[in-house]
Amino acid sequence: MYKITRKQILGTDIKRLDLKAENVSKKAKPGQFVTVMPDAYSERVPLSVMDTDPAKGLISLVVEERTASTKKLGEMQINESVHSLLGPLGTPLELGKVGTTVCIGSGVGIAQILPVCRALKKNGNKVIGAFGATTKKKVILEFQMRLSCNKIHLSTRDGSYESKGTVADSLKEILSREKARCVFAVAPVEELKDICSLTLPRKIKTMVCLQPVMVDGTGLCGSCRVKVAGKKMLACVDGPFFDGQFVDFEDLMIRMNAAKENDQWGDNASQSNSLKNGSKTLGKFLSDIIKNKP
Ligand code: FES
Repeated sequence: MYKITRKQILGTDIKRLDLKAENVSKKAKPGQFVTVMPDAYSERVPLSVMDTDPAKGLISLVVEERTASTKKLGEMQINESVHSLLGPLGTPLELGKVGTTVCIGSGVGIAQILPVCRALKKNGNKVIGAFGATTKKKVILEFQMRLSCNKIHLSTRDGSYESKGTVADSLKEILSREKARCVFAVAPVEELKDICSLTLPRKIKTMVCLQPVMVDGTGLCGSCRVKVAGKKMLACVDGPFFDGQFVDFEDLMIRMNAAKENDQWGDNASQSNSLKNGSKTLGKFLSDIIKNKP
């Protein structure tokens, strides 16, 4: 079960893994994700389903090695099996005919937005991609970007490849020339906020992918709670895509700061510490949630 059939290095610390997961390959839709545990001692790692091959029962995932669990996953070899894989999770996106759309992917968000680009293009929309990474060595899947969109803008923050700047800079340029009807974005929360500050005054519908820390991925623990239109929602069940117009980004940033601490613990953790730190993180999260309650 869940055997790795193919592995590819896409960029610095970024790997693509193809896994045997028949049910998920048949059911997963753009916008959904799975959680993966490389072994019994790992945390559940939420990963978007980048591609599916239902005929072969395969799914493609992209993992960036940042925490103890993602590093373990990235170190796994072909023919090894992951301990558990759960999904598809989350709410699929509605991707009908809307007209010109801009799809934004920053960092590994490129892998996450690709199925959205493909579905929109297949449904007859003009799809413009705005893709970006911090540096050239982190630019992934360029060939797939070009195939999935009608046009792409590629940028790196340090200017080491294509234009220098952020995905929000690319979006600004695109919007000066194109009449976009809708924007879909997968990027760090600060960039999502910048994106919305460009699209919302222009009344462009903007669906943003929110990625707070997820513990179980099934709506039980409450750690992925986000505030949308004044209501508490769960990114793992109600999302991960939400209408950016209604997202409380300030509230989300508080959670994302706690998530950064989780990354640091994960990087330095031994296997047993990883479990211990997971509980610490959850505890801190819950206390942050209580402290920041409106
Ligand atoms: Fe636990 Fe969403 S990850 S409720």
